[in-house]
Amino acid sequence: MILVVDFGGQYNQLIARRIRDLNVYCEVVPYNKALLSIKEKKPSGVIFTGGPNSVYEENAPMIESEVFELGIPILGLCYGMQLMAHVLNGKVIAAEEREFGKTELNIKESIIFKNVPDKSTVWMSHVDRVEKLPEGFETIASTKNSEIAAMQNTDKKLYALQFHPEVNNTEYGIEMLANFVYKICGQKADWTMENYAKTAINDIKEKVGDGKVLLALSGGVDSSVTAALLSKAVGDKLTCIFVDHGLMRKDEGDEVEAAFKDSGMHFIRVNAEERFLNKLKGIIDPEEKRKAIGEEFIRVFEDEGRKIKSVDFLAQGTIYPDIIESGIGDAAVIKSHHNVGGLPDVVDFKDLVEPLKMLFKDEVRELGRELGLADYLVNRQPFPGPGLGIRVIGEISKEKLDVLRDADYIFREELEKAGLDKSINQYFAVLTNNRTVGVMGDFRTYDYTLALRAVETTDFMTADWARIPYEILDKVSNRIVNEVEHINRIVYDITSKPPATIEWE
Ligand code: XMP
Repeated sequence: MILVVDFGGQYNQLIARRIRDLNVYCEVVPYNKALLSIKEKKPSGVIFTGGPNSVYEENAPMIESEVFELGIPILGLCYGMQLMAHVLNGKVIAAEEREFGKTELNIKESIIFKNVPDKSTVWMSHVDRVEKLPEGFETIASTKNSEIAAMQNTDKKLYALQFHPEVNNTEYGIEMLANFVYKICGQKADWTMENYAKTAINDIKEKVGDGKVLLALSGGVDSSVTAALLSKAVGDKLTCIFVDHGLMRKDEGDEVEAAFKDSGMHFIRVNAEERFLNKLKGIIDPEEKRKAIGEEFIRVFEDEGRKIKSVDFLAQGTIYPDIIESGIGDAAVIKSHHNVGGLPDVVDFKDLVEPLKMLFKDEVRELGRELGLADYLVNRQPFPGPGLGIRVIGEISKEKLDVLRDADYIFREELEKAGLDKSINQYFAVLTNNRTVGVMGDFRTYDYTLALRAVETTDFMTADWARIPYEILDKVSNRIVNEVEHINRIVYDITSKPPATIEWE
């Protein structure tokens, strides 16, 4: 195992993702728990991440010098390199010029640079630099502005790079990380979802024994994969409650049911469409809608939970980024208790089962495939909890939802046919509350305007509108106005986030 020690840099999770992509298991720990974790987990190598601080600042994140004496290979990246130099009595100074962006790297021979050419491009982002090497170290690479762009002490198995091998802009970054984990740490490439599935199923069997497990299934990727894994492990000791709020996309509720109905678990689908529609009657304010939908969800779960009363285990689809973000430790448990909303208050349970909590999102998808879940469940794009409730602008009705469902289906189908679903991260239709005049054959129409929304994004915090080719937009528009009644005009949303949000409400 490789331990990634987090110093607060922006690429920290990316480093862990890269190591996992090399089929090597790794975990992320905050810097102030590093020494303890290293002693406890006995990793075969440690990576120090970058971070926003300067090592000579007061309160800069530090590390005990003892970690360098444990004989475990360490790779320091950016701040991690400066920290290594600082703690081992080298010298770090603020450079006159900030080195940022693509830079040419000249290397000397080192095991960390095996299969890397003498000159290559790397990604730099730093102000401070190592001015004087610590004792026992040698320089193994330089750039125009950094004499010491990489250093090593092979006796102590300490290596450090001033640049970021984890980002795509570093041409041979993956090779360098691979050299570290395979050649220096001696790791084997045996972390695969096939192996994970086997181990996880055995672990769950052992933990659960004859106990009963309850899972609130939303139909999203994480809870679907959790359900599939648990049902393989404990079969009919698992009960899944799936609340269909009637605000799902076309056929989605049936798809979820079809995927799990015959899997051996107790599958309870609660058809709560009417309940939700009644609750939403007359509400037009987006925030009020969200609140009403959220509250009703909890009520429905509570009603079902009361029937079950008590279980031994409550299962959740918590994934690794949730845990890293909330700071590993007690905070993670508190947050995950809150995830299910409602259930823990009415159902007694002894313990949680969170079989995905060490996996990243793409690993969850891969595991889903490994477990035989259908592609449409595994590849699902993010879908907001309130569902189509926030994509029907204004008051919600069953009729409007059906119109939106049909139009949204056509849009998604055409984008998928064109292969654009690989590059566009979220795409959907919105039924605006606007009616305009149109003409159909010889008749005047007065019907709804549909908006199409498609964005490219990595984090959903910012997003750019997708440049869908005109021919495809044309095809989508033609199909929708011809095939879906009550839509006579279609517009394409060409605003980025910010200033717009991805959803319309
Ligand atoms: P916005 O509209 O804020 O959306 O740009 C960013 C991402 O979050 C999703 N979203 C939600 N997800 N409950 C959710 O679970 C919500 O209330 C909610 N609102 C927005 C949205 O689909 C996009 O992926």
